Order: sequence, then C-alpha cells, then structure tokens
Amino acid sequence: MSKEELIKGLNEDLSAEWGTIIRYTYQAGRSFGILGAELREIFARETQDELGHAAFLTDVIIDLGGEPTTMPQQFEKSQDLKAMLELDLKMELEDVQHYIEHAKIADELGNVELKMKVEEMAADEAGHARELRRLLKGL
Ligand SMILES: [Fe+2]
Ligand SMILES: [Fe+2]
Repeated sequence: MSKEELIKGLNEDLSAEWGTIIRYTYQAGRSFGILGAELREIFARETQDELGHAAFLTDVIIDLGGEPTTMPQQFEKSQDLKAMLELDLKMELEDVQHYIEHAKIADELGNVELKMKVEEMAADEAGHARELRRLLKGL
C-alpha cells in the first residue's frame, strides 16, 4: 500500500464525516416528540465527535501532502425516525470497517501515531453504533 492510497482512503473517510455532520444536523431538525428530544441531544453530542474526526483527518491529509476534500458524502433523507436510525447504524458500521482498514495501511507504512488515532476513531464509531442499536431496540 502506498501513501497515495492512504490519502485517498482518508479523503473518503473525511467525505463520510462531513456527510455525517450534515446528516445528524438534518435528522435533529426532523426529530419531534419526547423521543425526538432525546435524539436531538444524541445527534448534537455525536456531531461534536464527527467534527473532531473531520478536523483531524483534514490536518493529517495535509501533513501527508494531500488535498483534503470539502465534499460531503450524500445520504438518503427520511422523515421517519426508525428509518433514520437504521441508516445511521448502517453508516456508522461502515465507518468502523473503513477506519480499521485504513489503520492497517497506516501501520504498514510505519505511521504508528496515525494507526492509533484511526483505531480510536473506529472505536468512537463503534460506540455511536452501540448507542444507535440501543435506541432502535426501544422502537
Ligand atoms: Fe466520525
Ligand atoms: Fe460516528
């Protein structure tokens, strides 16, 4: 694996992070009622995590000599809370997989700091997935 492939992979992750920030902000606006109030708090908290991930990826891509994307990954809009959360769970699990793959590439390239930080982001996304799974259980 080359540095260029790592930059490409991290840029896909960055696009996914921008997309998630927009998705959670949109979904918070579409959340009503008592469950909606709880969801808005969770979306607000998770958005802060995703913003941290996006800022980290932006810095790292520049440090690696790449150009960080500012294009968010598109998503399917829904007004149904259950459908929203199911999509979010699917996307979080995909993010976990991507970060695990990209941590491996960072490791192969001998970049221990990046490997560990990307693994940490995989763990953050797995935590988000766990929270979403618990919410879905109650629906
Ligand atoms: Fe994230
Ligand atoms: Fe996440």
